[in-house]
Amino acid sequence: MTISVGEVQKEPIKNIERYTETPAVDRVFVEKAIKHVLAKIDQSLDVFTDKFPDSSSVNLVYKPIENVEWTTSFWTGMLWLAYEYTGLEKYRKIAEKHIESFRERLEKRIEVDHHDLGFLYTLSCVSAYKLTGNEEAKEIALKAADLLITRYYEEAGIIQAWGNLNDPSERGRMIIDCNMNLPLLYWASEVTGKPTYRNIAEKHINQAAQYIVRPDASTFHTYYMDPETGEPLYGNTRQGYSDDSCWARGQSWGIYGFPLSYHYISDWSLVELAKNLTNYYLNRLPKDHICYWDLIFTEGDEERDSSAAAIAVCGLLEMSKHLPLLDQEKKVYENAALLMIKSLYENYTTEVGSEANGILKHAVYYKGGRRGVDESCIWGDYYYFEALIRLVKDWKMYW
Ligand code: GLY
Repeated sequence: MTISVGEVQKEPIKNIERYTETPAVDRVFVEKAIKHVLAKIDQSLDVFTDKFPDSSSVNLVYKPIENVEWTTSFWTGMLWLAYEYTGLEKYRKIAEKHIESFRERLEKRIEVDHHDLGFLYTLSCVSAYKLTGNEEAKEIALKAADLLITRYYEEAGIIQAWGNLNDPSERGRMIIDCNMNLPLLYWASEVTGKPTYRNIAEKHINQAAQYIVRPDASTFHTYYMDPETGEPLYGNTRQGYSDDSCWARGQSWGIYGFPLSYHYISDWSLVELAKNLTNYYLNRLPKDHICYWDLIFTEGDEERDSSAAAIAVCGLLEMSKHLPLLDQEKKVYENAALLMIKSLYENYTTEVGSEANGILKHAVYYKGGRRGVDESCIWGDYYYFEALIRLVKDWKMYW
Protein backbone atom coordinates (compact mmCIF):
# COMPACT_ATOMS: atom_id res chain seq x y z
CA MET A 1 0.00 0.00 0.00
CA THR A 2 1.01 3.62 -0.42
CA ILE A 3 1.19 5.56 2.83
CA SER A 4 -1.00 8.66 2.89
CA VAL A 5 0.43 11.51 4.86
CA GLY A 6 -1.79 14.55 5.36
CA GLU A 7 -0.63 18.11 4.73
CA VAL A 8 2.28 18.47 7.14
CA GLN A 9 4.38 21.58 7.24
CA LYS A 10 8.14 21.47 7.27
CA GLU A 11 9.59 24.18 9.46
CA PRO A 12 12.92 25.42 8.18
CA ILE A 13 15.59 24.75 10.80
CA LYS A 14 16.19 27.86 12.85
CA ASN A 15 19.74 28.28 14.16
CA ILE A 16 21.02 26.20 11.28
CA GLU A 17 24.53 27.49 12.08
CA ARG A 18 24.49 25.24 15.16
CA TYR A 19 24.65 22.24 12.88
CA THR A 20 27.13 23.27 10.22
CA GLU A 21 30.30 22.06 11.94
CA THR A 22 30.88 18.40 12.68
CA PRO A 23 31.20 18.04 16.45
CA ALA A 24 34.27 16.41 17.96
CA VAL A 25 32.79 12.98 18.48
CA ASP A 26 35.47 10.62 17.25
CA ARG A 27 36.04 6.95 17.91
CA VAL A 28 38.05 7.66 21.06
CA PHE A 29 35.19 9.75 22.42
CA VAL A 30 32.61 7.06 21.67
CA GLU A 31 34.75 4.29 23.14
CA LYS A 32 35.17 6.32 26.33
CA ALA A 33 31.41 6.76 26.53
CA ILE A 34 30.86 3.04 25.98
CA LYS A 35 33.37 2.27 28.73
CA HIS A 36 31.17 4.22 31.10
CA VAL A 37 28.09 2.29 29.96
CA LEU A 38 29.82 -1.04 30.46
CA ALA A 39 31.04 -0.02 33.91
CA LYS A 40 27.48 0.79 34.90
CA ILE A 41 26.14 -2.45 33.44
CA ASP A 42 28.79 -4.43 35.32
CA GLN A 43 27.92 -2.63 38.53
CA SER A 44 24.40 -4.14 38.37
CA LEU A 45 24.97 -7.43 36.65
CA ASP A 46 24.47 -9.62 39.74
CA VAL A 47 21.38 -7.78 40.91
CA PHE A 48 19.79 -7.82 37.46
CA THR A 49 20.38 -11.43 36.50
CA ASP A 50 17.17 -12.98 37.86
CA LYS A 51 15.43 -9.65 38.26
CA PHE A 52 15.15 -6.60 36.03
CA PRO A 53 15.70 -2.90 36.67
CA ASP A 54 12.51 -0.95 37.31
CA SER A 55 11.35 1.40 34.54
CA SER A 56 12.71 4.46 36.30
CA SER A 57 15.05 5.03 39.22
CA VAL A 58 14.50 6.55 42.64
CA ASN A 59 17.37 8.83 43.57
CA LEU A 60 19.13 7.45 40.51
CA VAL A 61 18.94 3.84 41.72
CA TYR A 62 16.80 1.30 39.88
CA LYS A 63 15.23 -1.18 42.18
CA PRO A 64 15.01 -4.83 41.08
CA ILE A 65 11.61 -6.01 39.82
CA GLU A 66 10.13 -9.15 38.32
CA ASN A 67 9.53 -9.31 34.57
CA VAL A 68 6.27 -7.37 34.70
CA GLU A 69 6.83 -3.92 33.22
CA TRP A 70 6.70 -2.84 29.57
CA THR A 71 10.34 -1.86 29.95
CA THR A 72 12.15 -4.97 31.16
CA SER A 73 13.56 -5.86 27.76
CA PHE A 74 15.54 -2.65 27.57
CA TRP A 75 17.94 -4.17 30.10
CA THR A 76 18.11 -7.42 28.12
CA GLY A 77 18.69 -5.37 24.98
CA MET A 78 21.59 -3.62 26.69
CA LEU A 79 23.08 -7.00 27.55
CA TRP A 80 22.85 -8.02 23.91
CA LEU A 81 24.53 -4.79 22.85
CA ALA A 82 27.25 -5.37 25.47
CA TYR A 83 27.73 -8.91 24.17
CA GLU A 84 27.95 -7.70 20.57
CA TYR A 85 30.48 -5.03 21.44
CA THR A 86 32.72 -7.00 23.80
CA GLY A 87 32.12 -10.60 22.74
CA LEU A 88 32.01 -11.48 26.45
CA GLU A 89 29.95 -14.54 27.33
CA LYS A 90 28.90 -13.12 30.70
CA TYR A 91 26.45 -10.77 28.98
CA ARG A 92 25.13 -13.40 26.58
CA LYS A 93 24.54 -15.88 29.41
CA ILE A 94 22.26 -13.53 31.31
CA ALA A 95 20.48 -12.35 28.17
CA GLU A 96 19.83 -16.00 27.28
CA LYS A 97 18.50 -16.68 30.75
CA HIS A 98 16.04 -13.84 30.20
CA ILE A 99 14.58 -15.61 27.18
CA GLU A 100 13.02 -18.15 29.54
CA SER A 101 11.58 -15.37 31.62
CA PHE A 102 10.04 -13.77 28.51
CA ARG A 103 8.68 -17.16 27.42
CA GLU A 104 7.00 -17.65 30.77
CA ARG A 105 5.63 -14.14 30.75
CA LEU A 106 3.97 -14.70 27.41
CA GLU A 107 2.65 -18.16 28.24
CA LYS A 108 1.20 -17.05 31.55
CA ARG A 109 -0.04 -13.77 30.07
CA ILE A 110 1.71 -11.69 32.72
CA GLU A 111 1.14 -7.99 31.97
CA VAL A 112 0.93 -8.42 28.22
CA ASP A 113 -2.41 -6.72 27.61
CA HIS A 114 -0.79 -3.84 25.68
CA HIS A 115 1.06 -3.02 22.49
CA ASP A 116 4.48 -2.96 24.09
CA LEU A 117 4.94 -6.58 23.13
CA GLY A 118 7.09 -5.04 20.40
CA PHE A 119 9.58 -3.48 22.78
CA LEU A 120 9.49 -6.56 25.00
CA TYR A 121 10.04 -9.27 22.43
CA THR A 122 12.17 -7.41 19.90
CA LEU A 123 14.91 -6.58 22.35
CA SER A 124 14.86 -9.89 24.22
CA CYS A 125 14.04 -12.52 21.59
CA VAL A 126 14.36 -11.10 18.07
CA SER A 127 17.79 -9.85 19.13
CA ALA A 128 18.72 -13.32 20.42
CA TYR A 129 17.58 -14.88 17.16
CA LYS A 130 19.35 -12.34 14.97
CA LEU A 131 22.60 -12.52 16.94
CA THR A 132 22.82 -16.19 17.81
CA GLY A 133 20.24 -18.00 15.67
CA ASN A 134 18.32 -19.08 18.78
CA GLU A 135 15.26 -20.90 17.38
CA GLU A 136 13.38 -20.95 20.66
CA ALA A 137 13.70 -17.17 20.88
CA LYS A 138 12.37 -16.89 17.34
CA GLU A 139 9.30 -18.99 18.19
CA ILE A 140 8.60 -16.94 21.31
CA ALA A 141 8.87 -13.68 19.38
CA LEU A 142 6.48 -15.01 16.74
CA LYS A 143 3.96 -15.88 19.45
CA ALA A 144 4.32 -12.34 20.77
CA ALA A 145 3.61 -11.03 17.26
CA ASP A 146 0.49 -13.24 17.15
CA LEU A 147 -0.68 -11.74 20.40
CA LEU A 148 0.08 -8.21 19.25
CA ILE A 149 -2.11 -8.52 16.16
CA THR A 150 -5.10 -9.52 18.29
CA ARG A 151 -5.17 -5.83 19.26
CA TYR A 152 -5.79 -4.73 15.69
CA TYR A 153 -9.09 -3.19 14.56
CA GLU A 154 -9.70 -3.79 10.89
CA GLU A 155 -12.10 -0.88 10.30
CA ALA A 156 -9.94 1.66 12.08
CA GLY A 157 -6.67 0.17 10.80
CA ILE A 158 -4.96 0.57 14.17
CA ILE A 159 -3.48 -1.44 17.00
CA GLN A 160 -4.97 -0.46 20.35
CA ALA A 161 -2.26 0.68 22.72
CA TRP A 162 -3.35 -0.04 26.22
CA GLY A 163 -5.74 -2.12 28.23
CA ASN A 164 -8.26 -4.80 27.58
CA LEU A 165 -10.00 -4.51 24.22
CA ASN A 166 -13.33 -4.19 26.01
CA ASP A 167 -12.22 -1.32 28.22
CA PRO A 168 -14.39 1.60 26.97
CA SER A 169 -11.83 4.23 27.98
CA GLU A 170 -9.11 2.62 25.88
CA ARG A 171 -11.02 1.22 22.92
CA GLY A 172 -9.66 2.40 19.59
CA ARG A 173 -6.81 4.40 21.11
CA MET A 174 -3.52 4.39 19.24
CA ILE A 175 -0.37 6.08 20.44
CA ILE A 176 2.77 7.41 18.80
CA ASP A 177 4.95 5.05 20.86
CA CYS A 178 3.46 2.13 18.89
CA ASN A 179 5.63 3.04 15.90
CA MET A 180 8.41 1.29 17.78
CA ASN A 181 6.39 -1.89 18.25
CA LEU A 182 5.75 -2.42 14.55
CA PRO A 183 9.19 -3.85 13.65
CA LEU A 184 8.18 -7.04 15.50
CA LEU A 185 5.39 -7.43 12.95
CA TYR A 186 7.50 -6.64 9.88
CA TRP A 187 10.09 -9.11 11.14
CA ALA A 188 7.41 -11.77 11.73
CA SER A 189 6.30 -11.47 8.11
CA GLU A 190 9.88 -11.75 6.92
CA VAL A 191 10.61 -14.94 8.83
CA THR A 192 7.26 -16.67 8.27
CA GLY A 193 6.51 -15.43 4.76
CA LYS A 194 2.99 -14.57 5.97
CA PRO A 195 1.93 -11.08 4.88
CA THR A 196 -0.69 -10.51 7.63
CA TYR A 197 1.72 -9.05 10.20
CA ARG A 198 3.23 -6.62 7.72
CA ASN A 199 -0.17 -5.60 6.36
CA ILE A 200 -1.32 -4.71 9.86
CA ALA A 201 1.85 -2.77 10.59
CA GLU A 202 1.49 -0.86 7.31
CA LYS A 203 -2.13 0.04 8.03
CA HIS A 204 -1.21 1.21 11.50
CA ILE A 205 1.74 3.36 10.40
CA ASN A 206 -0.50 4.89 7.76
CA GLN A 207 -3.06 5.89 10.39
CA ALA A 208 -0.34 7.20 12.70
CA ALA A 209 1.05 9.31 9.85
CA GLN A 210 -2.39 10.71 9.07
CA TYR A 211 -3.85 11.32 12.48
CA ILE A 212 -1.20 11.36 15.21
CA VAL A 213 0.98 13.80 13.31
CA ARG A 214 -0.53 17.27 13.35
CA PRO A 215 -0.34 19.68 10.41
CA ASP A 216 2.50 21.62 12.10
CA ALA A 217 4.60 18.41 12.35
CA SER A 218 4.17 18.04 16.09
CA THR A 219 2.48 14.92 17.41
CA PHE A 220 -0.37 13.95 19.65
CA HIS A 221 0.60 11.39 22.22
CA THR A 222 -2.59 9.40 21.67
CA TYR A 223 -5.44 9.41 19.17
CA TYR A 224 -8.85 7.76 19.29
CA MET A 225 -10.52 6.10 16.32
CA ASP A 226 -13.96 4.58 16.34
CA PRO A 227 -13.10 0.88 16.22
CA GLU A 228 -16.41 -0.08 14.61
CA THR A 229 -16.71 2.56 11.89
CA GLY A 230 -13.06 3.58 11.59
CA GLU A 231 -14.00 7.24 12.03
CA PRO A 232 -11.12 9.38 13.32
CA LEU A 233 -12.21 10.98 16.59
CA TYR A 234 -9.71 13.10 18.55
CA GLY A 235 -6.19 13.31 19.91
CA ASN A 236 -5.12 13.83 23.48
CA THR A 237 -2.22 13.15 25.82
CA ARG A 238 -1.43 11.01 28.76
CA GLN A 239 2.17 11.85 29.53
CA GLY A 240 2.54 15.23 27.89
CA TYR A 241 1.89 18.68 29.34
CA SER A 242 -1.47 19.17 27.65
CA ASP A 243 -3.59 17.74 24.86
CA ASP A 244 -2.35 20.32 22.41
CA SER A 245 1.30 20.44 23.47
CA CYS A 246 3.93 18.11 22.07
CA TRP A 247 5.26 15.53 24.50
CA ALA A 248 8.99 15.34 23.75
CA ARG A 249 9.32 11.59 24.00
CA GLY A 250 6.32 11.10 21.76
CA GLN A 251 8.00 13.25 19.14
CA SER A 252 11.14 11.14 19.51
CA TRP A 253 9.18 7.91 19.13
CA GLY A 254 7.96 9.41 15.84
CA ILE A 255 11.41 10.57 14.75
CA TYR A 256 12.72 7.03 15.20
CA GLY A 257 9.57 5.05 14.45
CA PHE A 258 8.71 6.39 11.00
CA PRO A 259 12.18 5.63 9.59
CA LEU A 260 11.96 2.14 11.10
CA SER A 261 8.83 1.47 9.06
CA TYR A 262 10.63 2.95 6.04
CA HIS A 263 13.35 0.35 6.57
CA TYR A 264 10.78 -2.39 6.00
CA ILE A 265 8.31 -0.94 3.54
CA SER A 266 10.43 1.60 1.61
CA ASP A 267 7.75 4.29 1.38
CA TRP A 268 9.72 7.52 1.06
CA SER A 269 6.93 9.65 2.52
CA LEU A 270 7.83 8.15 5.91
CA VAL A 271 11.33 9.62 5.68
CA GLU A 272 9.96 12.99 4.59
CA LEU A 273 7.58 12.88 7.53
CA ALA A 274 10.39 12.03 9.94
CA LYS A 275 12.32 15.04 8.61
CA ASN A 276 9.36 17.30 9.36
CA LEU A 277 9.06 15.94 12.89
CA THR A 278 12.79 16.36 13.35
CA ASN A 279 12.81 20.00 12.29
CA TYR A 280 9.99 20.72 14.71
CA TYR A 281 11.98 18.99 17.44
CA LEU A 282 15.34 20.67 16.68
CA ASN A 283 13.69 24.09 16.63
CA ARG A 284 12.64 23.65 20.24
CA LEU A 285 15.91 22.52 21.78
CA PRO A 286 17.70 24.59 24.38
CA LYS A 287 21.37 25.49 24.05
CA ASP A 288 22.71 22.15 25.27
CA HIS A 289 20.65 20.23 22.66
CA ILE A 290 18.73 18.16 25.20
CA CYS A 291 14.97 18.62 25.08
CA TYR A 292 12.66 19.54 27.91
CA TRP A 293 10.15 16.80 28.75
CA ASP A 294 7.54 18.58 26.67
CA LEU A 295 8.47 20.70 23.66
CA ILE A 296 6.16 23.45 24.86
CA PHE A 297 9.11 24.34 27.09
CA THR A 298 12.19 25.75 25.45
CA GLU A 299 13.84 27.48 28.42
CA GLY A 300 13.51 27.69 32.19
CA ASP A 301 13.47 25.22 35.05
CA GLU A 302 11.22 22.45 33.79
CA GLU A 303 12.92 19.06 33.67
CA ARG A 304 14.72 17.77 30.62
CA ASP A 305 14.10 14.34 29.20
CA SER A 306 17.47 12.82 28.36
CA SER A 307 15.70 9.59 27.36
CA ALA A 308 13.79 11.41 24.61
CA ALA A 309 17.10 12.84 23.41
CA ALA A 310 18.68 9.38 23.25
CA ILE A 311 15.76 8.04 21.21
CA ALA A 312 15.99 11.03 18.86
CA VAL A 313 19.70 10.39 18.31
CA CYS A 314 18.96 6.83 17.18
CA GLY A 315 16.17 8.15 14.97
CA LEU A 316 18.40 10.75 13.35
CA LEU A 317 21.15 8.22 12.73
CA GLU A 318 18.70 5.75 11.24
CA MET A 319 17.01 8.39 9.07
CA SER A 320 20.20 10.00 7.79
CA LYS A 321 21.45 6.56 6.75
CA HIS A 322 18.72 6.58 4.11
CA LEU A 323 19.29 10.14 2.88
CA PRO A 324 21.31 10.50 -0.31
CA LEU A 325 24.70 12.20 0.01
CA LEU A 326 23.36 15.14 -1.97
CA ASP A 327 20.59 15.77 0.53
CA GLN A 328 21.57 19.01 2.22
CA GLU A 329 19.92 18.00 5.45
CA LYS A 330 21.85 14.75 5.82
CA LYS A 331 24.84 16.49 7.38
CA VAL A 332 22.61 18.70 9.50
CA TYR A 333 20.86 15.70 11.03
CA GLU A 334 24.11 13.80 11.56
CA ASN A 335 25.67 16.80 13.26
CA ALA A 336 22.58 17.29 15.40
CA ALA A 337 22.78 13.65 16.49
CA LEU A 338 26.45 14.05 17.39
CA LEU A 339 25.81 17.24 19.32
CA MET A 340 23.15 15.47 21.33
CA ILE A 341 25.26 12.42 22.09
CA LYS A 342 28.15 14.67 23.10
CA SER A 343 25.95 16.62 25.44
CA LEU A 344 24.44 13.46 26.88
CA TYR A 345 27.86 12.03 27.66
CA GLU A 346 29.32 15.25 29.00
CA ASN A 347 26.37 16.56 30.99
CA TYR A 348 23.84 13.81 31.61
CA THR A 349 25.69 10.64 32.62
CA THR A 350 25.89 9.20 36.12
CA GLU A 351 29.16 9.18 38.02
CA VAL A 352 31.36 6.10 37.90
CA GLY A 353 31.79 4.80 41.45
CA SER A 354 28.49 6.31 42.63
CA GLU A 355 25.54 4.29 43.86
CA ALA A 356 23.60 5.33 40.75
CA ASN A 357 23.01 2.19 38.68
CA GLY A 358 21.53 3.93 35.66
CA ILE A 359 23.45 5.54 32.85
CA LEU A 360 21.65 8.75 31.93
CA LYS A 361 20.32 11.14 34.54
CA HIS A 362 17.69 13.83 34.03
CA ALA A 363 15.01 11.79 32.30
CA VAL A 364 11.27 12.04 32.89
CA TYR A 365 8.96 9.03 32.77
CA TYR A 366 5.59 10.57 33.59
CA LYS A 367 5.58 14.04 35.04
CA GLY A 368 1.81 14.23 35.65
CA GLY A 369 1.87 10.83 37.35
CA ARG A 370 4.89 11.91 39.44
CA ARG A 371 6.79 8.88 38.32
CA GLY A 372 10.46 8.96 37.42
CA VAL A 373 10.81 12.74 37.28
CA ASP A 374 14.42 13.87 36.85
CA GLU A 375 15.62 10.30 37.21
CA SER A 376 17.13 7.60 35.05
CA CYS A 377 14.76 5.70 32.74
CA ILE A 378 15.86 2.31 31.52
CA TRP A 379 14.86 2.92 27.89
CA GLY A 380 16.95 6.11 27.90
CA ASP A 381 19.95 4.03 28.93
CA TYR A 382 19.19 1.49 26.22
CA TYR A 383 18.85 4.04 23.39
CA TYR A 384 21.93 5.93 24.52
CA PHE A 385 23.90 2.68 24.31
CA GLU A 386 22.35 1.79 20.95
CA ALA A 387 23.30 5.23 19.61
CA LEU A 388 26.90 4.76 20.73
CA ILE A 389 27.04 1.31 19.14
CA ARG A 390 25.66 2.79 15.91
CA LEU A 391 28.59 5.23 15.98
CA VAL A 392 31.28 2.56 16.31
CA LYS A 393 30.03 -0.13 13.99
CA ASP A 394 27.75 -0.88 11.12
CA TRP A 395 25.07 -2.08 13.49
CA LYS A 396 22.45 -4.57 12.32
CA MET A 397 19.29 -3.50 14.06
CA TYR A 398 17.34 -5.68 16.48
CA TRP A 399 14.30 -3.64 15.36
N1 GLY B 1 6.03 4.13 25.95
C1 GLY B 1 5.78 4.79 27.17
C2 GLY B 1 6.69 5.90 27.42
O1 GLY B 1 7.43 6.33 26.55
O2 GLY B 1 6.69 6.38 28.54
